[in-house]
Amino acid sequence: MNTADRILILDFGSQYTQLIARRIREQKVYSEIMPFNVPIEKMRAFEPKGIVLSGGPSSVYDEQAPIPSKEVFALGVPVLGICYGMQLMAHMLGGDVSRAAKREYGKAMLHVDDDSNLLRGISQKTKVWMSHGDRIDRMPDGFQIVGHTDNSPIAAMANRERSCFALQFHPEVVHTDEGVRILQNFVFEICGCKPTWEMASFIDWQIGAIREQVAGKKVICALSGGVDSSVVALLVHKAIGDNLSCIFVDNGLLRKGETEKVKKTFRDHFHINLDFVDARSRFLEKLAGVTDPERKRKIIGYEFIAIFEEEAKKFVDAEFLAQGTLYPDVIESVSFKGPSAVIKSHHNVGGLPEKMKLKLIEPLRELFKDEVRILGQELGLPEEICWRHPFPGPGLAIRCIGEITGRKLDILREADAIVLEEIKAAGLYHEIWQAFAVLLPVQSVGVMGDERTYESVAAVRAVVSRDGMTADWAQIPYDVMGKVSNRIINEIKGINRVVYDITSKPPGTIEWE
Ligand code: XMP
Repeated sequence: MNTADRILILDFGSQYTQLIARRIREQKVYSEIMPFNVPIEKMRAFEPKGIVLSGGPSSVYDEQAPIPSKEVFALGVPVLGICYGMQLMAHMLGGDVSRAAKREYGKAMLHVDDDSNLLRGISQKTKVWMSHGDRIDRMPDGFQIVGHTDNSPIAAMANRERSCFALQFHPEVVHTDEGVRILQNFVFEICGCKPTWEMASFIDWQIGAIREQVAGKKVICALSGGVDSSVVALLVHKAIGDNLSCIFVDNGLLRKGETEKVKKTFRDHFHINLDFVDARSRFLEKLAGVTDPERKRKIIGYEFIAIFEEEAKKFVDAEFLAQGTLYPDVIESVSFKGPSAVIKSHHNVGGLPEKMKLKLIEPLRELFKDEVRILGQELGLPEEICWRHPFPGPGLAIRCIGEITGRKLDILREADAIVLEEIKAAGLYHEIWQAFAVLLPVQSVGVMGDERTYESVAAVRAVVSRDGMTADWAQIPYDVMGKVSNRIINEIKGINRVVYDITSKPPGTIEWE
């Protein structure tokens, strides 16, 4: 059972909602995000020590404005409203909110009017990050102003009796100089949380929760060899041992050595039941003659589900499906779509559970990618898997431009392996978000020895990025590029020219297809 103190964050669609959760967890206090319209019983069951109402793009007067249950303010725990959360608090508790003549966006100086509580220990004048369209004209009864800026006479307000606090600016972003201190004041001073949460306690808590949910029944898990599904498999295995069976589908579109690595790591090292499916020729047949990238994706997604379903039939007594869904995948499915609803059109395993009537186990659904990596480390997952670059579900199929054949895939796999080997040897792997080779449906003339060649062109793609949404092409040193190019041309029959892709995203995408 988890005994750590918890903060609940209600999401109203701000792009910064995840950051609030992060900042609080960085204080070793567990925090979880729920959609704004979560039933009050669920909030109560979470037993939060405090609630944060996130920002959001709406105005409280919009017809579709996201409004939570009024009982949020009657749970008997402190509430902190941020930006839209502040206007909402004012609106719901009887104050007046109006549309500001112009949107206030960017840096502002906050003047602290009362440092006895939320703003304790904050400089008299401090830089904050504003982003809002509405403003509060009249605070609800019992509130007082605790901070103002030149443009916002009510930039921070508090009602200590009700334990309600609100900020017009964003304490969670780095541009607010003393934002962390403000969140610390809320979490520690006002909510009385203790900094006891860490990954190890998360593991213990999840193990308990998984055992309770599964209650001795069988679980299956689609293992891809990527970070998320690997961590889920390890975590669930730790909780229920042999009651977990993993299904690994080799679709023939994987990187070099991937299949052996997965077998070695999970079957030999961790002793996890691994059902291995060699579906290479099946995928190749289905993809024969297909050149349209979206059709490739559809075929691969569909085929994966079909194979997984067939295979899962072997596990007649399985009642649960463990999935490595992360927070960005979760919020996509809530009905309210604000900017925080990261649209992941690339999600491949959607649709699996509904058809199969399996109950879901999603132990990572509150975590962010880097937290999953830390969790993996704690669970003893090899560094190499924990910190690996993202790899798309359709795999090499969308890097083999145009029609796919077994031979082309083999050539691409070798080229890709060389790119990764050299990037690692140069110590660049961790700085780079993704690095890979792309096989182009273009042939060019070359000379090798005395012979004229007419072979394919490979493009090398390497980008730096924080989240894959935007990316810059990586400025790899020329000598490293030289090695990559020499090795590919000398070692791989079928490629006689290598080019480097210097397109950023936007306007390009990371993948070529
Ligand atoms: P793009 O090419 O859209 O890629 O800039 C952004 C990130 O998403 C990955 N990606 C995919 N992942 N299925 C996936 O699971 C897909 O169909 C897919 N397409 C792109 C890409 O590798 C990059 O990390």
